Amino acid sequence: MIPFNIPPYTGDEDQYMKKAIENHKICGDGEFTKKCNEWIEEKTGTPKALLTTSCTHALELAAILLDIQPGDEVIMPSYTFVSTADAFVLRGAKIVFVDIRPDTMNIDEQLIENAVTDRTKAIVPVHYAGVSCEMEKIMEIAHKYNLAVVEDAAQGVMSFYKGMALGSIGDFGCFSFHETKNYSMGEGGALLIQRKDKIEDAEIVREKGTNRSKFFRGQIDKYTWVNVGSSYLPSDINAAYLYAQLKRAEEINEDRLASWKFYYESFEELKRKGRIDLPVVPSECKHNAHMFYIKAKDLEERTALITFLKERDILSVFHYIPLHSAPAGQKFGRFSGEDKYTTKESERIIRLPMYYKLTAEDKEKVVSAVYDFYRER
Ligand SMILES: Cc1ncc(COP(=O)(O)O)c(C=O)c1O
Repeated sequence: MIPFNIPPYTGDEDQYMKKAIENHKICGDGEFTKKCNEWIEEKTGTPKALLTTSCTHALELAAILLDIQPGDEVIMPSYTFVSTADAFVLRGAKIVFVDIRPDTMNIDEQLIENAVTDRTKAIVPVHYAGVSCEMEKIMEIAHKYNLAVVEDAAQGVMSFYKGMALGSIGDFGCFSFHETKNYSMGEGGALLIQRKDKIEDAEIVREKGTNRSKFFRGQIDKYTWVNVGSSYLPSDINAAYLYAQLKRAEEINEDRLASWKFYYESFEELKRKGRIDLPVVPSECKHNAHMFYIKAKDLEERTALITFLKERDILSVFHYIPLHSAPAGQKFGRFSGEDKYTTKESERIIRLPMYYKLTAEDKEKVVSAVYDFYRER
């Protein structure tokens, strides 16, 4: 069976995790958490990065730091993971969904301005498949209407837009280090903070509403409860696992990009024949090969292709069911304008096996199985 995903593992994880154990500091903010934070800050040019227990929690942290209140509106695509919306719904926000572009599957930047009302507080662009949203236009709208921008860069670690790292362009950026991501700690994430005035608040909210981070740095002699908060810091054992991969991020990135390129070039003929569509990466975007998808004609063809591949021991998957069509999406959100592409395009996507160290033999098997499917159809 060719799995859809195998969590990244470089071989250095064991020794780093052992070191974390020997440090007798397996709670949060130990040696490896600091190393990961510094790596993110350096790679992305971010003033402050904080590892979190998930990207979901990084998004929640951002929503708290922006003081999102009941009735506030937050603009995002409907084609995204539930956490993008949930983090803001938890604060009582109303979600305003905007259609996507059919080429990148990202929020259509041209439709955002129409969705802005006097209740709008933030825009949450989701960089689908590690390919950047049109950030220049999004930042321009945000400045015009004085809105915050929280980048959902769950899939965008090591991706760039016009030379800027994803997650470092808006007020806040959120990374995921879930086991399905390019770099992993099992469950985990990070909050990237561009707003220097929010750094201290972020440390407090992440540490149960206390100023314990300042205390650990020796800046105060006792710590106390100063704000609302929760526990968003991961164990240093998980951070040690992640650090092994961050240290070899270039190697992992190149390996994934090579697989992506192989798939892309192999499927160009099917695309030329008009049988499938392939991912589009605009010239200003440098992506990280987070996923490789093809687009079938429609839902029926996609379902048949997934079944066909499964019969040949190849696991492929689809996502997302557009949030505005889900029960909670209807309760907590509304769609602004027409759903021209969100539903239609989401029904065509099929994600092929993609992970670090995917073998040449397995890639070839996947490609020839897809060709067999279209030959038989
Ligand atoms: C776009 C997007 N946002 C948020 C998340 C949530 O990430 P996590 O599992 O780290 O909470 C995911 C996870 O797949 C995602 O793809």
